[in-house]
Amino acid sequence: MRMIDIIEKKRDGLELTKEEIYFAINGYTKGEIPDYQMSALAMAIYFQDMTTEERVHLTKAMVESGDQVDLSAIDGVKVDKHSTGGVGDTTTLVLAPLVASVGVPIAKMSGRGLGHTGGTVDKLESIQGFQVEIDSKEFIELVNKNKIAVVGQSGNLTPADKKLYALRDVTATVDSIPLIASSIMSKKIASGADAIVLDVKTGSGAFMKELEDAKELAHAMVQIGNGAGRKTVAVISDMNQPLGFAVGNALEVKEAIDTLKGEGPEDLYELCLTLGSRMVYLGKQAESIEQAREKLEEAIRSGKAIEKFKTFVAAQGGDPSVVEYPSKLPTASYTFEVKAKEDGVVSQIIADEIGIAASLLGAGRLTKESKIDLAVGLVLNKKIGDSVQKGESLVTIHSNREDVSEVVEKIENAYTISDQKVEKHPLIYEVID
Ligand code: URA
Ligand code: CA
Repeated sequence: MRMIDIIEKKRDGLELTKEEIYFAINGYTKGEIPDYQMSALAMAIYFQDMTTEERVHLTKAMVESGDQVDLSAIDGVKVDKHSTGGVGDTTTLVLAPLVASVGVPIAKMSGRGLGHTGGTVDKLESIQGFQVEIDSKEFIELVNKNKIAVVGQSGNLTPADKKLYALRDVTATVDSIPLIASSIMSKKIASGADAIVLDVKTGSGAFMKELEDAKELAHAMVQIGNGAGRKTVAVISDMNQPLGFAVGNALEVKEAIDTLKGEGPEDLYELCLTLGSRMVYLGKQAESIEQAREKLEEAIRSGKAIEKFKTFVAAQGGDPSVVEYPSKLPTASYTFEVKAKEDGVVSQIIADEIGIAASLLGAGRLTKESKIDLAVGLVLNKKIGDSVQKGESLVTIHSNREDVSEVVEKIENAYTISDQKVEKHPLIYEVID
């Protein structure tokens, strides 16, 4: 088999076989196929697309290019959740203990990553003593005992995706549905879950800004997951403004605690129940989505959900009393209010700008080496549709620096205040199952 023939076949719009796809991916991972041939193939895929079968083969070839996590020693149906990413997305911190509290095993492998704030692992490390570097034996024992554990990413998962994603980044081929969908799904499948719930975000703060693109990506990922034998469901949710109020690491932990107690922001609560009820249903802990939702609501009302959070934190060496004493979380030295300059209704909050403002404070990593300030971030006091009066606070800045002029400027650019009636975006656009 020759790579040039595979490139030519895809260039001409023909369907590649399983063998051809594996040949390309395996050869590329091993370094036998050079970057220039792989970029040509990626560009051919960009223009000619792939059938569902081709996408499934591509995903599986990437999964098989490296280590795969084996969760078979854990009892029950293991359900994982993935978000395509947004600003102030606190859902994992809420969902993991919430869903575990009704009996679904959550064996979560999570990253740090680059972004406006840290990843789930960074956020959890704002709890004094919390350990994510646990070995796989302990990880499995913890999930069997408590139904929940979170471990930092280790091992050599999907090396083909790492290499191909980096190549796509510099050859203008990131923006391709078959390539994005297979990239995301390969990582999820290699992480070992039996079933997957995807939160595909759309809007100004999302990777997929247009609803139509988000729908196409969601359908593509659901087809790949199901095609690879993992039951997959996608929820398309709004990211035209940050989710909840908090954007930051310790601030989001506090927000997750509030939500698990039933005292959190409405949008975060609703999205967690929408995603969570699908996880519980796929995890076979309820007979219908409605029953799953009732169980989750009851877990929050009765205190079972927040108790599960405490058990989880204590089991991984963290101080569970942060639940009663959130002031034990890292706190910033200064707070500043960004005030409205006129009366009206908030009509827009550009999520990306809020994210950049948070990262300017030090809440996120700009390079792999940079250190995160877990205490800093933003709390939104007004969201889209809220009325404001001149002088009222739009956002509270939590900073360890006294000069926040650049941050204030970003926040002022992010907010639009209108004197007209404002239509709110729906929170959930579609569920694909
Ligand atoms: N995120 C991924 O993991 N892969 C892509 O291709 C795009 C976004
Ligand atoms: Ca949030």
